[in-house]
Amino acid sequence: MSPSTADPLWWRSAVIYQIYLRSFADGNGDGIGDLAGVRQHLGYLKELGVDAIWFTPWYESPLADGGYDVSDYRTIHPAFGDLTEAETLIQEALALGIRTIIDVVPNHISDQHPWFQAALAAGPGSPERERFWFRPGRGADGDQMPTDWVSNFSGETWTRTTNQDGTPGEWYLHLFTPQQPDLNWNHPDVRAEHEAVLRFWFDRGVAGVRIDSAALLVKDENLPEVPEHPGPGEHPNQDRDELHEIYRGWRAIADSYPGTRVLVGEIWLPEIDRFAMYLRKDELHTAFNFDFLARPWEARELRASIDETIAAHAPVDAPSTWVLSNHDVTRPVTRYGRADSSFAFLKKRVGTPTDLALGRRRARAAALLTAALPGSLYLYQGDELGLPEVEDIPADRLEDPMHFRSGGVDPGRDGCRVPLPWSGEHPPFGFSPAGASAEPWLPQPENWAPLTVEAQQSDAYSMLRLYREALRLRRTEDGLGDGPLRWLDSADGTLVFSRGDAFVSVTNLSSDAIELPDHVAILLSSDPLDRGLLPPDSTAWLRTQHGPPEVA
Ligand code: NOJ
Ligand code: CA
Repeated sequence: MSPSTADPLWWRSAVIYQIYLRSFADGNGDGIGDLAGVRQHLGYLKELGVDAIWFTPWYESPLADGGYDVSDYRTIHPAFGDLTEAETLIQEALALGIRTIIDVVPNHISDQHPWFQAALAAGPGSPERERFWFRPGRGADGDQMPTDWVSNFSGETWTRTTNQDGTPGEWYLHLFTPQQPDLNWNHPDVRAEHEAVLRFWFDRGVAGVRIDSAALLVKDENLPEVPEHPGPGEHPNQDRDELHEIYRGWRAIADSYPGTRVLVGEIWLPEIDRFAMYLRKDELHTAFNFDFLARPWEARELRASIDETIAAHAPVDAPSTWVLSNHDVTRPVTRYGRADSSFAFLKKRVGTPTDLALGRRRARAAALLTAALPGSLYLYQGDELGLPEVEDIPADRLEDPMHFRSGGVDPGRDGCRVPLPWSGEHPPFGFSPAGASAEPWLPQPENWAPLTVEAQQSDAYSMLRLYREALRLRRTEDGLGDGPLRWLDSADGTLVFSRGDAFVSVTNLSSDAIELPDHVAILLSSDPLDRGLLPPDSTAWLRTQHGPPEVA
């Protein structure tokens, strides 16, 4: 059942819609999505049936990494609006029953942030540099990087500075781009500042924070190389044990506020038991489950992911999260249309062939499958419209540093960040108001007219209508959201489980149409049945008995 705004456990079942602000809706016509655009479309989100919205970073930023390079945590980027408007939006959304979650980025800040500028100016050995990881280089001239750590964005993790007198200086660490220097979490200023930032936003009514790169903050001060097979807690810059104490401090802050303010970790870790440790009851509330989105569209793989996820969450009594996509990964319609439908950053290649019709069918089936699983659900803007990854953005319009740092091998993440199509026959498809002074910051494909919100609203078989109906049922069906799942016996290539006493979800990943288990009604199906059979790559939701279950 869907949570009400008064429910302290709202986050255990919530449907959370991810807003990539630059690309959601442009209120003032400069081609960049903004808070005014979101405010105009809160009714759309209400009708879609989401419980919360999560904003990717909306702060002052040079946008070297789409805003994950924050230069002032207490100011909204002027292209998006201002603090007063953010406060208004938070209240307007709440009035519609929609909570607001914001992104915090504790691992790094922008190189334009006053702290980093002060550190550069103050020079080697200064207290200002202690807030970061400045180190002399190796080798006689100090011209070798202090470590050989490889960046998550491919390439190097250290950049050499230049001293005031023009001589080559110290190096500083950045696990991402050089514009994102890593903070030193052993420094009390770094801890105090982030706790103050949490309070700043909780004071303004946000219901939670999504914590960027949550498992990376702490580094081994000795800066050793990464061992070939690091054991638990042995990686020098990932998943270090000291992180748990930081999050216990954050949890105490969150818990000191009325209502439930949630901490959601962005944690990519291969060891699911280590992942679950962050979800102990005095740490984070939930964390993104990326295992499911990394798996191929195969019954055995998805079943294994579901089982492993639920089993790992059980001992810490945390709800699982289900995430089909976000602003970093290939859109599901495209990914599921590929011969290899698994996801890995290092595997992305320009020019991979895709069957979009197949991908769309599977994405519809996946939408119902994940919405029926126990826990909370994340929905990335545009997936409810079935937008494909845009793979032909002109090279001179690409922005993502992941693309450039890979030497152009990795297509980057711009293709899932293209501005949403709202209405009309041609770009900007209602993304910007009529008479806008600029084109959308990333170009939209000319052929998106059938994918606009307007077009899909009047098409009963559209992705948008499927999502609306699924989220409506998710709110009204007692068994859905948080709670147990029971697998039912089923043929190879199928995933069949019950939730509650009278609800069954059936997904067919085999290549043959299948018979449905006994039911009294079909509540929803991702594709029409074929002479009573559920076609391949489809999900159906079934009512399996009439009326309330009998009390023994
Ligand atoms: C994860 C974010 O989701 C991604 O967009 C960003 O580039 C990195 N963290 C670095 O902040
Ligand atoms: Ca704008």
